[in-house]
Amino acid sequence: MDKLVIDGGMPLRGSVDVSAMKNAALPIIYASILVGGKCRLENVPNISDVTTSFEILRGMGAVITGVDDTTIEIDTENLVGSTSNRDLVSKMRASYYLLGAELGRFGKAHVGYPGGCDFGVRPIDYHIKGLEALGGEVKTDSEYITINAPLGVRGNGVYFDGISVGATINVMLAAVLAKGITTIDNAAKEPHVVDVANFLNTCGARITGAGTDMIKIRGVEKLHGCTYAIIPDMIEAGTFMIAAAATGGHIKINNVIPKHLESIAAKLEEIGANVEMFDDSVIVSGNGSYKKTYIKTLPYPGFPTDLHPQMVPLLSIADGVSNIRETIWPERFRYVNELRLMGANITVNEETATAVIEGVESLHPARVKAVDLRAGFAVLIAALMTDGQTEIYDIKYIERGYEDIVAKLTGLGARIKKVPIIDDDVNEKAG
Ligand code: EPU
Repeated sequence: MDKLVIDGGMPLRGSVDVSAMKNAALPIIYASILVGGKCRLENVPNISDVTTSFEILRGMGAVITGVDDTTIEIDTENLVGSTSNRDLVSKMRASYYLLGAELGRFGKAHVGYPGGCDFGVRPIDYHIKGLEALGGEVKTDSEYITINAPLGVRGNGVYFDGISVGATINVMLAAVLAKGITTIDNAAKEPHVVDVANFLNTCGARITGAGTDMIKIRGVEKLHGCTYAIIPDMIEAGTFMIAAAATGGHIKINNVIPKHLESIAAKLEEIGANVEMFDDSVIVSGNGSYKKTYIKTLPYPGFPTDLHPQMVPLLSIADGVSNIRETIWPERFRYVNELRLMGANITVNEETATAVIEGVESLHPARVKAVDLRAGFAVLIAALMTDGQTEIYDIKYIERGYEDIVAKLTGLGARIKKVPIIDDDVNEKAG
């Protein structure tokens, strides 16, 4: 086990390249099951959720070879359905894409329950409802979700009661090889939904409307292999934008799609940071003096829930009282205790799922832990803001979704090291 040791107090300066989007790469990797042949994926991020996905698919018979640092070839011709390893599947959330992909290719699926970051109940009822609408008969027990489509997978109209990225993509996966036309109403509009549709269309699928709330999928007989480059990660880009402002630094963030960053850019400008957008980069600078604000997390194109925790250390040093209302994951507040250890003044109104952040003069170093992926980066930003040494434990959560974080931050002038945990009292903290 390792920890991060950060000597904070240095404004971040320089430029950094954003990696490919975790939440696009993962479904695209599972979507390759539908191809039943070889695909070349470019811009694949080297993060642990991707490594776990490769382990799952290799265990099912896929052949995955690295071409270079960010390119892989994945051949799913001999992949056998219903054989995924339950322990591996339970390590991550996106393994639920096996449901749609297996059902689409084999007419049946048998998959353990997904895991992932713990911020309260994370139901999959929309996924089940959508797959049932396509002819899947779903049985669940305490260990597995089993789906059979005895009459084959058939296109149908699917309406989601709420907006779900995962359910939208899962139905899309099940529908591309189905007989007939599927429509998804109240679909998620996130850029990663569009990227998965673009990948599938490059393989011969007929999907239109991705990026709007109505997606139409005309089933095709079969898909073919392709070469596809995954889009840059807007959440990683947004995280660096916040870190630049929070440390009073000046960063050029390369390899971004500016359109995806509008909500975060608007919020940073509103509180007093300076944001300049270019064709495929963004420059953010801050002077350490910020105004309070109100943020409500929303599905795309609203302010993303996956940037909520990272905003909190920044708002902790703003003038006045800021509020962040979480509408996607109402229990996503486990970072609060850790930031309190660093001097932040945060209370949570559980009834309205709102963090109330009262500005303080400064934060201070502490021994803290990453309680989940984005919460982990929130304490990392706090550590970079403080004068003195912070230790962060349980960094495996950060490594699920951020690539090369030590190298990237070091390149921006941060003093950060990853070191093995050796002493016992520290191990207690990590537990
Ligand atoms: N929901 C249901 N039933 C369902 C599915 C979702 O009630 O069957 C609810 C959820 O409880 C939540 C809302 O719908 O309140 C949205 O959930 P969604 O399905 O969109 O979330 P997800 O697909 O499980 C993905 C990302 C999350 C990100 C959310 C929202 C992946 C692997 N995960 O999760 O990413 O927060 O969309 O944008 O794509 C992260 O990267 O840190 C992360 C948590």
